[in-house]
Amino acid sequence: MKGIILAGGNGTRLSPLTRVTSKQLLPIYDQPMIYYPLHTLLQAGITEILIITAPDHAGDFLNFLGSGRDFKAKFTYEIQDKPMGLAQGLSIAETFVGDDSCTMILGDNIFEYNFTKDVQQFSAGAKIFVKPVSDPERFGVVVMNEHNQVINIEEKPTKPKSNLAQTGIYIYDQQVFDLIRALQPSARHELEITDLNNLYLAQGTLSAQLITGEWIDTGTFESLFKAAQFRRQQVRKS
Ligand code: DAU
Repeated sequence: MKGIILAGGNGTRLSPLTRVTSKQLLPIYDQPMIYYPLHTLLQAGITEILIITAPDHAGDFLNFLGSGRDFKAKFTYEIQDKPMGLAQGLSIAETFVGDDSCTMILGDNIFEYNFTKDVQQFSAGAKIFVKPVSDPERFGVVVMNEHNQVINIEEKPTKPKSNLAQTGIYIYDQQVFDLIRALQPSARHELEITDLNNLYLAQGTLSAQLITGEWIDTGTFESLFKAAQFRRQQVRKS
């Protein structure tokens, strides 16, 4: 299993902080943000990791993370020239992933859940991870039936049909890159991860796991602050 951390984008919602460095390097209490998704992958046993960044501040990632040796891992770096969507970002990983399957995590997502079993047990298709939230309209919204099967996923609907958010971690088999080639840009001119996951859903090969523990998408000042508070509590407990 290969790992990908998608850490590009403009970070406009967190400006002017993101004029100093990339959003995924901003501090969350005692660590740069990217440390958390990196830890999530390493904890799941994934040690070959591709880090995809925007051109601006790309050198800052290299300064912090280096070769990966300090983390007992191997890091590779790629640039996404423009933020043309999560699925477009993932397409950059095709050569890196080769014949393997891959887990992609967003560089601004913080999870308490341990993904080890999900990674070990993955064999084919795609797997998404969902969590009930109070503000589903901010996310991809997942409708599931009583057997935990996905019925539908909608990207940031104005009237969400459930309170289940699609979180920022996804596991895919090798056919993901062929499926991305079949995607069309959305109204906001991006290749959407939700459209990609809906292709797997149409094939009948999408599964979903409800996750436990805290999950924070640190895309706003409020959630950045909440993430720092969460981390502070964890550090004080340990
Ligand atoms: O956090 C989970 C949510 O992530 C999902 O529920 C949504 O379905 C999914 O579309 C995504 O929504 P966001 O609104 O959080 O996506 P955003 O555009 O903020 O991008 C998420 C991260 O990915 C952010 O750190 C920047 C990075 N990114 C984004 C784009 C569009 C890239 O590296 N490249 C890109 O092209």
